[in-house]
Amino acid sequence: MGTIITVTSGKGGVGKSTTTANLAVGLANLGKKVVAIDFDIGLRNLDMILGLENRIVYDVVDVMEERCNLSQALINDKKAKNLYFLPASQTKDKDVLERDKVKKLLLSLKKQFDIVLLDSPAGIESGFEHSIFLADRALIVSTPDVSSVRDADRVIGIIDAKSEKAKNGEEVEKHVIINRIKPEMVEAGNMLSTEDVLSILALPLIGVVPDDEDIIGSTNMGDPIINKEKSISAESYRRISRRVLGEEIEFLDLKAKKGFFKAIKSIFK
Ligand SMILES: Nc1ncnc2c1ncn2[C@@H]1O[C@H](COP(=O)(O)OP(=O)(O)OP(=O)(O)O)[C@@H](O)[C@H]1O
Ligand SMILES: [Mg+2]
Repeated sequence: MGTIITVTSGKGGVGKSTTTANLAVGLANLGKKVVAIDFDIGLRNLDMILGLENRIVYDVVDVMEERCNLSQALINDKKAKNLYFLPASQTKDKDVLERDKVKKLLLSLKKQFDIVLLDSPAGIESGFEHSIFLADRALIVSTPDVSSVRDADRVIGIIDAKSEKAKNGEEVEKHVIINRIKPEMVEAGNMLSTEDVLSILALPLIGVVPDDEDIIGSTNMGDPIINKEKSISAESYRRISRRVLGEEIEFLDLKAKKGFFKAIKSIFK
């Protein structure tokens, strides 16, 4: 049986889909059979980040409504052969997902894949709830600013209250990813530090990703940054992927600019 991992945040635009795409590739490259599912109904963009938008014929709602079978809808990644992708529907009806159908689909995917990675929509509405209710684990993405951290905190409370695991008296394993850190702003006291964020969320950290304009470029190219060899954010995602699989790996030093460049040098020397 595979593991369902939901990537979520509460606040929009903080990097859920970017995280999902990069970790999906990272985990597949580590030998896991991965399926990434876009649960952002009506606003799909995981397909673009993965560069698979032209391959879409069927989507997740088509599978749930039995207009096609799962293997017709799954799209194999062009580079990571262990990675499959299930796109979101473009329907404007955000409430199109039904709990029983979501459950049936996710349980069947869990049988076929090691990791089922769900990209959740922003907010805390029904789409979000569908993406967390069967989660075994959750990766909470937050940027280091107060509104993002507050929304992440709210989402953590909802996962603890509304997931199936919570209903069965178990806990969804949760970790924090802090995205878009600007070391020089943290240094100058103008941005929350990693410690500040963790003290509010009270969860273990699984990764930090710097603010990196190459990520925007890679999104536009449809080639996740993790595929780039000499990149500090690619290295961040590679390390997070290993930590997701339970490896203990040193965190990149993004705190100070000096440390930041030292980190780059030490990785690529
Ligand atoms: N570490 C980063 N550095 C620079 N830009 C980033 C970083 N992470 C994400 N971005 C950019 O931020 C934008 C939003 O990212 P993304 O779509 O992954 O967020 P999201 O949380 O999925 O948004 P939504 O809530 O709308 O689904 C994108 O343009 C993406 O390229
Ligand atoms: Mg998104």
